[in-house]
Amino acid sequence: MLLARALEVRERAYAPYSGFHVGAAIAATNGKIYTGCNVENASYGLTMCAEMSAVAQMVADGAQEICEALIIGSGQDICTPCGACRQIISEFAVTTIQIHLCNRSGECQTKTIGELLPFSFNSKFLPPT
Ligand code: THU
Repeated sequence: MLLARALEVRERAYAPYSGFHVGAAIAATNGKIYTGCNVENASYGLTMCAEMSAVAQMVADGAQEICEALIIGSGQDICTPCGACRQIISEFAVTTIQIHLCNRSGECQTKTIGELLPFSFNSKFLPPT
């Protein structure tokens, strides 16, 4: 199901500059699936990654806990999330959740977010508000 949803949203990626299309699907603990695709910009640095847009959809819908995620790129190699997206996912996930990383043919490797981003900075390092 996550694969089907990520493939569907990857079709809508806006990637005229890189030509690299990415779809992300996130299962939240509320039972819903949130999706996102990459959205590039002529001002390259403003590009939004697929994972980031899926997390934004989730939070806007009122959910804040990821239980599983899948990312599919359009390349021959599996699409592994960039450093910023690892941090963005880890904000809303325990370290043991699985992230499936897929290539254009749908072949996947699975890692935990803790493996992808060990010893991450998180709210526990901040003073109480
Ligand atoms: N991209 C993502 O959407 N997610 C990632 O984790 C890696 C990179 C996008 C950003 C840009 O539009 C294109 O892939 C090439 O970097």
